[in-house]
Amino acid sequence: MSFLADSLSRVKPSATIAVTQKARELKEAGRDVIGLGAGEPDFDTPDNIKEAAIDAIRRGETKYPPVAGIAPLRKAVAEKFRRENQLDYKPEQVIVGTGGKQILYNAFVATLNPGDEVVIPAPYWVSYPEMVLLNGGTPRFVECPIETGFKLTPEALAAAITERTKWLVFNSPSNPSGAAYSRVELQALTDVLLRHPQVWILTDDMYEHLLYTDEPFATIAEVEPRLCERTLTMNGVSKAYAMTGWRIGYAAGPKRLVDAMVMVQGQQTSGACTIAQWASVEALNGPQDFVAKSRAVFQERRDLVVSMLNQASGLKCPSPEGAFYVYPSCAGAVGKRAPSGKVIETDEDFVSELLETDGVAVVHGSAFGLGPNFRISYATSTEILEDACARIQRFCNRLS
Ligand SMILES: Cc1ncc(COP(=O)(O)O)c(C=O)c1O
Repeated sequence: MSFLADSLSRVKPSATIAVTQKARELKEAGRDVIGLGAGEPDFDTPDNIKEAAIDAIRRGETKYPPVAGIAPLRKAVAEKFRRENQLDYKPEQVIVGTGGKQILYNAFVATLNPGDEVVIPAPYWVSYPEMVLLNGGTPRFVECPIETGFKLTPEALAAAITERTKWLVFNSPSNPSGAAYSRVELQALTDVLLRHPQVWILTDDMYEHLLYTDEPFATIAEVEPRLCERTLTMNGVSKAYAMTGWRIGYAAGPKRLVDAMVMVQGQQTSGACTIAQWASVEALNGPQDFVAKSRAVFQERRDLVVSMLNQASGLKCPSPEGAFYVYPSCAGAVGKRAPSGKVIETDEDFVSELLETDGVAVVHGSAFGLGPNFRISYATSTEILEDACARIQRFCNRLS
């Protein structure tokens, strides 16, 4: 009898965490390494949010929270959805969890039965398929190539849906590609979804505020209110307010789904950290100038990185609409010989040679289900990005 659970044999460790760890180890060993693997803003959490947490500690908000979230935060989330997304959720339809990651996990625990399929457009955030597998579901990947801007088309969505499809996991702006859907593009997808009443939609809007298009952000339940009754709208404070370490995410959806997720959470964590929840109340209700400022900085960095990467021989880097990632194709480098003498056959070879030769840590695209590409997180300073992109250019220009 094996000690570890059989379900573990179906999952992989996170490639993004592995790259970050490798870069850290090389640095500790004295190597000059730039890590562009981690998906978190380099900014500090704004002071007003920190102060709200300190006040909460002083007031003694240090007891177990209500499982679904403290009432002021559920209310702030419902108001946020009304103010920013024109969505009419009641606080009872809101769940707060320990990061968006746990919200997703709760949703899958609460709904997946063996054989249930989950449609996941690729490239995807590394955790989606693993969470589905851990909960006995079957991921059904849909390739969204560079030619469609890494976006899901209505035809590809329709072809992926079967009678066993329980969820579509939808992420815009996307990690890892940065692709963000316009309202018209969303409508084309919601038209397909309306025809398939068995399919629920889990929309991960984590990068909502990091959008660089003229058109404002739109989410599925807003674009097609008839889908509201089978949509879970997920979001969080990690990326918008530089709060990755506070671990607060939230979602709103039909009450029977949210109630089931709350029940799961009640047997799991008993609810998210109260102090971080009070900080999140301030994040959502307090001044929002930080959001606009960080968006402007990220947009400048995106333009810098896209322009420098497109000057590297063999790389093709589309300019993404959102998030803080670029997802260049390295197809032009495949088949070439690296300075070490090794022939690059895959994107994984490309990133490991780049790390060994020029000390830049990025994540290979095949880890996100679509390659040969790689992901760069540009959530780091302009000086570091300039240095990293110059090294990538040097590496690519030396391939023969
Ligand atoms: C697309 C996407 N969804 C969800 C998350 C989870 O965010 P958190 O658990 O920090 O709220 C991340 C974090 O990297 C992400 O990139």
